[in-house]
Amino acid sequence: MTIRIATVAIATLGVLVADVAWPGTRSDSEFLNQGTIGNTRHNLSQRQTAGGGPTGSQMDAVRNNYQQVCVYCHTPHAANQNISAPLWNRTVRSTTYTLYNQQSLSQEATQPGPNSLTCLSCHDGQTAVDSIVNMPGSGKYNAALALNPDTSTTKALLDAWSTTDDAFDHFGLKDNNTECLSCHSPGGQGGAQDFSAFAIGTDLRNDHPVGVKLPSGSDWNVPSGTYKNVRFFDTDGDSRPDKEELRFYDSGQGYEVECASCHDPHGVPGATASFLPTFLRVTADGSQICLTCHVK
Ligand code: HEC
Ligand code: HEC
Ligand code: HEC
Ligand code: HEC
Ligand code: HEC
Repeated sequence: MTIRIATVAIATLGVLVADVAWPGTRSDSEFLNQGTIGNTRHNLSQRQTAGGGPTGSQMDAVRNNYQQVCVYCHTPHAANQNISAPLWNRTVRSTTYTLYNQQSLSQEATQPGPNSLTCLSCHDGQTAVDSIVNMPGSGKYNAALALNPDTSTTKALLDAWSTTDDAFDHFGLKDNNTECLSCHSPGGQGGAQDFSAFAIGTDLRNDHPVGVKLPSGSDWNVPSGTYKNVRFFDTDGDSRPDKEELRFYDSGQGYEVECASCHDPHGVPGATASFLPTFLRVTADGSQICLTCHVK
């Protein structure tokens, strides 16, 4: 297997942090985590009061504030055609991931499919969270951002968004003390919350396998529903894959587990008013999510 080593420009924060008054360390999210994605951590436009969430003005230095929640991931027109994902607006690099392949696995895991690459377009840390093809406003479409691997070019394109709202720099969810994690890691600057666990990186060996099919045998529950390219546990029997139903995606290699098998990035209502934690489709309480697929 070939492992592509990503070269990422290391930004320095020296100037940025010098004259800002920082709040103390917080561990809980200020987002309500209910009702709409605008109230979740996937609201990357967090100063927009209509969408809820904390003020987050510190972020303006490190990502464009597009003042729209959806636009960081979707666009109504001119979506990125390089990935089979709904009206996808984000840069998706061509990357070879290091896969989970323990001896015990009954198969060779395959490279993440589109229903994982969407998530990894932020969570592998290679791409700035505001790197999108079609920025809000007339004439802001730029095809070069679809899979542009060059960070200086990307930065120039992102900088061109607006003369007043430019980020000082464009940061990604990176797993070392640069970019977003320069503040969002233990001991990070400003006492910001620790996001280390969210920085998945390009090495997936320590993550639940994706790109794996459901093996046969008594160790597994078999999903009953099929709809287009999705096979799902049809718990309410309506023959449609609902957000609270775990699923497998077929992107040409059979029905496989991907990130979106277990997570819905918009939030899923649970038994209480709040969304289930960590964007899960099924609660992790009592390991219910695991036992939906695994018979253990
Ligand atoms: C210069 C330090 C700094 C950098 C760099 C930084 N942040 Fe923050 N961030 C903070 C601080 C401090 C807070 C807490 C205060 C607040 O909410 O504004 C915060 C809060 C947040 C929150 C709200 C968390 C919650 O659930 O309440 C999000 C989301 C966030 N940051 C995302 C990001 C992303 C994404 C990046 C990289 C593009 C980033 N931050 C880079 C300092 C930083
Ligand atoms: C953080 C990224 C992100 C944001 C922000 C986001 N989405 Fe999505 N959305 C996704 C991903 C990823 C998928 C594909 C999920 C899958 O693989 O099944 C998706 C799928 C969808 C779909 C089709 C499938 C479904 O789940 O219904 C719709 C409709 C949708 N999003 C609407 C929205 C709207 C409207 C907003 C803003 C209010 C929004 N999304 C914000 C990431 C996002
Ligand atoms: C536009 C960039 C972006 C995309 C695309 C994206 N995320 Fe995130 N996600 C973030 C950032 C940034 C955070 C860090 C936390 C925050 O912003 O407060 C986060 C946080 C999370 C968390 C932790 C939430 C919590 O409350 O603990 C989970 C789980 C998560 N994302 C899963 C996913 C999955 C699964 C997908 C794809 C279906 C996805 N994300 C797509 C940017 C993204
Ligand atoms: C088989 C189900 C499953 C798959 C597939 C899966 N996750 Fe998760 N993920 C979970 C569960 C369960 C949690 C909650 C763990 C916890 O509460 O500590 C979680 C937590 C997370 C978190 C928050 C980290 C933390 O410890 O708080 C992020 C970010 C995340 N997942 C992203 C992803 C991404 C990106 C992918 C695809 C590469 C993915 N997940 C694939 C089940 C899954
Ligand atoms: C959507 C279905 C699904 C869910 C939900 C799920 N898994 Fe899996 N899991 C799989 C599949 C498929 C494999 C690949 C099995 C194989 O090929 O041997 C796998 C593999 C694993 C492996 C690796 C086994 C090995 O031989 O190395 C472990 C451990 C595991 N899962 C634990 C969990 C845990 C813990 C949870 C809950 C947090 C969970 N799984 C949720 C489908 C799922």
